[in-house]
Amino acid sequence: MLGRRLNAALLLAIFCLAAATATGAMPAEHANATIRDDLTTEYAKQIIRQSKVAEMKGMLNTRIAPCDDFYSYACGNWHRQNPAQLFGDIMTDTFQLIVKGFDRRLQRLLQSGSMQSELEQKLQSFYRSCLVADVHDAHYKLALQSIYREYGGFPVIEGASWNASSFSWWRTVADIQHKYGRKIILAVDIMADIKNHTLNRVYLGPPDNKQTISILTSLETKSLANYLMLYFGVDERLARGTATKLIKLQRDLDDGSISQGISLADDLTLYSVAELEQRYAELISIKEYLGLVLGQENVPEHIYIYSERYLNKTLKKLQKTPRDTIGNFVIWQLLETYQIDYKPNELRSWCTEQTKKHFAKLTDHMIYERYRSPAAEAEVRSVWQQIRETFRQQLAGDKLDWIANKTRELVINKLDHMELHINSYDNEDFEGLYGELTMDKQNYVHNLQQVLMAEAKRSLRRQHNPPTSLEATDVLSFTPAYSILANNITIPVALLQPRYFWDADYPQALKYGTLGYLLAHEMIHGFDDEGRSYDANGNLAPWWDDKSRYEFEEKRKCFQAQYHSYKYGGARLPESVQQSENIADNAGVKLAYKAYQRWLEQQPPELLQQEQLAGLELSSRQLFFLSYAQLWCDDVQSLFKTSVATSDDHAPGMYRVIGPLSNFQEFSWVYNCSQQAPMDPEFKCAVY
Ligand SMILES: *[C@@H]1O[C@H](CO)[C@@H](O)[C@H](O)[C@H]1NC(C)=O
Ligand SMILES: *[C@@H]1O[C@H](CO)[C@@H](O)[C@H](O)[C@H]1NC(C)=O
Ligand SMILES: *[C@@H]1O[C@H](CO)[C@@H](O)[C@H](O)[C@H]1NC(C)=O
Ligand SMILES: *[C@@H]1O[C@H](CO)[C@@H](O)[C@H](O)[C@H]1NC(C)=O
Ligand SMILES: *[C@@H]1O[C@H](CO)[C@@H](O)[C@H](O)[C@H]1NC(C)=O
Ligand SMILES: *[C@@H]1O[C@H](CO)[C@@H](O)[C@H](O)[C@H]1NC(C)=O
Ligand SMILES: *[C@@H]1O[C@H](CO)[C@@H](O)[C@H](O)[C@H]1NC(C)=O
Ligand SMILES: [Zn+2]
Repeated sequence: MLGRRLNAALLLAIFCLAAATATGAMPAEHANATIRDDLTTEYAKQIIRQSKVAEMKGMLNTRIAPCDDFYSYACGNWHRQNPAQLFGDIMTDTFQLIVKGFDRRLQRLLQSGSMQSELEQKLQSFYRSCLVADVHDAHYKLALQSIYREYGGFPVIEGASWNASSFSWWRTVADIQHKYGRKIILAVDIMADIKNHTLNRVYLGPPDNKQTISILTSLETKSLANYLMLYFGVDERLARGTATKLIKLQRDLDDGSISQGISLADDLTLYSVAELEQRYAELISIKEYLGLVLGQENVPEHIYIYSERYLNKTLKKLQKTPRDTIGNFVIWQLLETYQIDYKPNELRSWCTEQTKKHFAKLTDHMIYERYRSPAAEAEVRSVWQQIRETFRQQLAGDKLDWIANKTRELVINKLDHMELHINSYDNEDFEGLYGELTMDKQNYVHNLQQVLMAEAKRSLRRQHNPPTSLEATDVLSFTPAYSILANNITIPVALLQPRYFWDADYPQALKYGTLGYLLAHEMIHGFDDEGRSYDANGNLAPWWDDKSRYEFEEKRKCFQAQYHSYKYGGARLPESVQQSENIADNAGVKLAYKAYQRWLEQQPPELLQQEQLAGLELSSRQLFFLSYAQLWCDDVQSLFKTSVATSDDHAPGMYRVIGPLSNFQEFSWVYNCSQQAPMDPEFKCAVY
């Protein structure tokens, strides 16, 4: 997990900050990247290396000493080219550049006429219908109306004629999830039983709310009020009053859904549906609810409740909330997907994003088809093998002897079972999913509705398919992820676009500092505070002996204290029991460095020349650390710093650099730091 994790995404447990904010225009420098892809001459290679040097230097702030603050040295000028903005990207980071690069490829394709199949043409029709969608168009309004009328209407519009007594919030949200897959207030998910992957289970819990970086309440309220006025002609006073209530309700629900520091296993209870039916009888019929979502014939005898606290709190809260407020909330959430929300001059990139969002796997697949290379895939697999081998050797040696021999054998066994998966969706049944869609080039709402319905049907069929872990496709499309339940690492194809973090023409140091680290980070998640409770097949079945577990805990506490001592946006980072991300960052950079060392040692001296970059007076090992640090360059709008720090298990970018490198002795040697240097504290934390 590289990015943010959210409560519902706990099922897969990844999310990245960049996803919430990535929007905006395209910088021109990569605009002709497809053409550059063909450049293979020696001269071209020089140019490619020089442009990398320019890019790296552009981020550096050489007035800061590397040993004082390596993050500010490596990334001190990032914000000049990539400023965060209050009304724009509230946060910028390097993964966003990857996403934007990928989106540009997609946009070029959608704009072009070169579609290769009927499916691709459907995708293009969807995109074109988005380009002509218009809020002021009567057809657009009618299409929206037909959607919410189905659920008893929108109280804020109907006023006194809205029939409150016939409205049941849980029946409505159940119907909506069944038909459109949109999860509101309560979510039903289907996936493998975390304790036994031979069967599927139904999970009931909070929906995956992607907007948990709390945007300023007042801004959010204003924008919702504007939406009600513009789309539905609600008068200003009513719109404001309604928006205030809805945003407040959303905040209250979100608050209950975050169980920070609790692992998935501890937040999950298996109940019989009969027991739940009785227990909550006064507030909701769980049995009927499940029947509406899944179909009567598919209601299982047992389900998992995740975050029981959320369920209790939400049911109580809604009992005290006026019906029309809940009705407005539900319809707003239902219609949110259809909102047309782009900034001036960004229609095309906005429509590209929507296309990607709603056809995530298909767009990944078809864009990747156009730049994939066996050589690049082989390279990724080779680095993965090296990283795994490096860790395996450490486990077999005496360095990690705080883990009992028997447990270390099990660690190695789990490591050997771990697989790397490139998310190219080669075996996906796209025809089955989209084959029957009919796209109308003029009717965006209709098209979107069709897509959502197809996707909802597919996801309900999961109950009868072989058990798998949940997927979060939109998220997976740019951050690598470790799936605890599959014990495998997936790497998104967007990351394999040439010439971003690493490239065959760049020094290998850059590849190890970025790709090597990313893979090592994900690998360590299999052995972090949460992952180590799952066995080689991804079943929840703790296998660590008591003594090793105790030792692990002691080492984890060291990180807990260390990261809590860091200040960000004027406040300390929260003190969190969950240290998985920090453990993965710390071990990840060490393993990647060791793998790089091993590679270096095997090279003939004349090849080492390639490991320097003309224009950057750095040794190859120094380059390794610089490329690692520059992976985390970011800029966060100052108003959001606190919420970024508190709502995320990942440390802010600067501490993903400062933490792991100040814990790593080799870093100080490579940069020749004195013993008094802030980057070389005497006391260092380490698990692996
Ligand atoms: C990209 O290259 C094509 C063909 O050489 C050219 O027509 C086009 O203007 C270029 N686009 C940009 C943005 O430079
Ligand atoms: C409101 O709904 C209830 C229950 O469905 C129904 O009995 C009643 O007639 C409805 N009232 C109006 C005014 O439509
Ligand atoms: C897992 O479930 C299967 C089928 O329901 C059952 O036969 C098996 O005993 C279970 N395994 C464990 C370890 O509980
Ligand atoms: C949730 O509510 C039920 C019934 O009211 C109660 O038995 C249970 O202990 C509550 N659970 C939590 C975690 O609050
Ligand atoms: C663990 O294994 C190593 C060698 O593999 C051996 O030297 C050591 O004595 C073993 N430790 C215990 C406690 O058995
Ligand atoms: C790994 O997990 C993904 C889902 O994230 C799945 O599609 C894939 O088949 C799995 N790969 C292996 C090799 O188990
Ligand atoms: C390392 O730093 C020391 C003083 O802190 C200096 O004397 C020495 O020359 C430096 N070595 C290199 C290789 O820069
Ligand atoms: Zn992670």
